[in-house]
Amino acid sequence: MLNHFLKFSDIASGEIQPLLERAVELKAGATSTALAGKSVVIFFEKPSLRTKLSFWVGIEKLGGNPVHFAPEEVGLGKREPVADVANVMSRMSDAAVIRTFEQSTVEEFAAAASIPVINALTDAEHPCQALADTQTILEQLGSVSGANVAFIGDGNNVAVSLGYAVAGLGGHLTFASPDGYTVHQESLDGANAYGVAVGGSVKQVINPQEAVANADIVYTDVWTSMGQEAETAKRLKAFEGYQVNPELLDQAGPNVKFMHDLPAHPGEEISDGLLYDSRSVAFDQAENRLWAQAALMEKLI
Ligand code: NVA
Repeated sequence: MLNHFLKFSDIASGEIQPLLERAVELKAGATSTALAGKSVVIFFEKPSLRTKLSFWVGIEKLGGNPVHFAPEEVGLGKREPVADVANVMSRMSDAAVIRTFEQSTVEEFAAAASIPVINALTDAEHPCQALADTQTILEQLGSVSGANVAFIGDGNNVAVSLGYAVAGLGGHLTFASPDGYTVHQESLDGANAYGVAVGGSVKQVINPQEAVANADIVYTDVWTSMGQEAETAKRLKAFEGYQVNPELLDQAGPNVKFMHDLPAHPGEEISDGLLYDSRSVAFDQAENRLWAQAALMEKLI
């Protein structure tokens, strides 16, 4: 039983595929009033375009009422303790969608809340992104099971959640990251354990060319995530040679698709124009945030 969605593995691996199929149905025009009469708090401590828009519109599509707070209004953990905010929101709303820095903050919030809590990105995970990502892979390939996915770049929040999602659906994900920026062993072990029953797997390599060989999907994310801005110069240097560009895609499978969770930094992790390459499905992926999260909210709230 899914109470909160704080990290990708909160959903049982057997529940992912039905949820994605529901997302596809909603995208195709199925309607739902699952949130009629319900209010959902959207509270973000970091910038957001896709996540805020897709939750806001998704809540409305399901007949619910979105209530948005900017960080300075709430002062989470500063103006008021995290647990007190969670208690108050639980008394007056039906779910909370939270974007913050530390994973421990959403966990502390959820521990004190009596409503479902959804992680809309922390430094550790971006599980809603991974739902939209696997919906996109399902649409493109017909199945995530057996798919070969290459993630090139930083072993960050997006990479970790994607690893769980692909492995949990029986796909194979190879991360290629420079030394010092690889996915932590604990997450690699966790994703492999999560996917073992369905034959899914993840692995970490250093070389991008090795990762993309035979890939059906090549995925990348920014080199400097929100909150890491002070490390930008150091990261630009560390990630030299990790840019995804047409030449790298040419080394993948013949029908390879390119994915990016956006926002992108052309000239850094991707070459100029790559989002508009005929192999890019990045904007389908962005739209799928709406449908995957609607399916999630239907199930959770
Ligand atoms: N890794 C990026 C994802 C942005 C949607 C970040 O955390 O900033």
